[in-house]
Amino acid sequence: MSILEIAPLVRGAYLAARNVPVILSPSDETELELSVESVDQLAEAFPVDLPDTVAVTVSGERHGFRAHTVGDVSPLPHGKDAQASAAEPRSRVVAGKVALVTGGAQGFGAEIVRGLVASGAFVYIADLNADGAAKLADELGPHTAALTVNVADEESVAAMTEQIAATTGGLDLVVSNAGIVRAGSVLEQDADAFRLTTDINYVAFFLVTKHLGGLMAAQRRTAPAWTTDIVQINSKSGLVGSNKNGAYAGSKFGGIGLVQSFALELVEHGIKVNAICPGNFLDGPLWSDPDRGLFVQYLRSGKVPGATTIEEVRRFYEAKVPLNRGTYGSDVMRALYYLVEQEYETGQALPVTGGQVMLSS
Ligand SMILES: NC(=O)c1ccc[n+]([C@@H]2O[C@H](COP(=O)([O-])OP(=O)(O)OC[C@H]3O[C@@H](n4cnc5c(N)ncnc54)[C@H](O)[C@@H]3O)[C@@H](O)[C@H]2O)c1
Repeated sequence: MSILEIAPLVRGAYLAARNVPVILSPSDETELELSVESVDQLAEAFPVDLPDTVAVTVSGERHGFRAHTVGDVSPLPHGKDAQASAAEPRSRVVAGKVALVTGGAQGFGAEIVRGLVASGAFVYIADLNADGAAKLADELGPHTAALTVNVADEESVAAMTEQIAATTGGLDLVVSNAGIVRAGSVLEQDADAFRLTTDINYVAFFLVTKHLGGLMAAQRRTAPAWTTDIVQINSKSGLVGSNKNGAYAGSKFGGIGLVQSFALELVEHGIKVNAICPGNFLDGPLWSDPDRGLFVQYLRSGKVPGATTIEEVRRFYEAKVPLNRGTYGSDVMRALYYLVEQEYETGQALPVTGGQVMLSS
């Protein structure tokens, strides 16, 4: 009987009893002992007035847990109780929640991690770059945990999921953000570069949803009113094609197909699935890295006609945006809060592009 089968049921029981997000940590203390023969019996065994610590024995295997909150969280109004006239600060919707950001060590991922922590969430920073994730976790303090993962590898994602079950019991928000760009002409691109892009941007979203979505679905068995979110960081290139960048655009278009399909399926488990489609993060490392960033690359390759400085390359891309600038982390955070707060939407792809891409039909 693995911790993966037991912990989410216990966390779900606390969510149902308290109606606020909790962290479920391992504990030696015990105020209540529950002993059952099967996980199915466990799902029925929790009393409404759960004490802060509980030990659960399933088929002779015992696990002790302690439930606590991140800061002072109070229940949020839901459904008809959430009056339109009583708007809360939108960021409050993530306070106390357990979130995970893939590719959280740098770029948009790090911006999202910082935003969620500042809004009172506990955040897993899940990245292939173990040092980068650990450094950011050290900087941001105790309400973060660094996890090393290759999101394109199923064993790695499964191991991460088990680690989460053992550390916090479950999850409320997954931000599937890790992604790469390997630009190139369809007539010349190496097939391995195409496959790598597809694996990290497209297949990995399936793996992350399969395993972390499974954890959230298990938690829902004992918390039938608790809703959770999976948000994919897609791109404007998931909405319109991208010249000499087909591997990237194809993987992002495909991502929206997965978002819509997973949304239809996971609604029965209380999981909303949506995508955010940002425009270019011109201040992020992908564009601005002084050695390998796209500005330097485009300057050297002459991709922007007549540009002789990095500033001219930047202006060329800013000028494509009706709102006349690149996308900021804060723009993406506003979209994220909206999608989590919005109880009445799933399967959507939300552009955050300064007007560069406008939805039609
Ligand atoms: N930068 C932009 O202009 C832009 C625009 C629109 C959408 N996006 C999307 O935003 C997301 C983040 O992009 P970014 O520009 O911040 O990227 P970035 O390159 O700055 O950071 C990506 C992070 O993902 C991690 N990562 C890469 N492969 C991984 C793997 N296999 N497993 C786990 N972690 C992995 C990297 O270590 C890195 O920390 C991507 O999905 C990207 O497509 C970016």
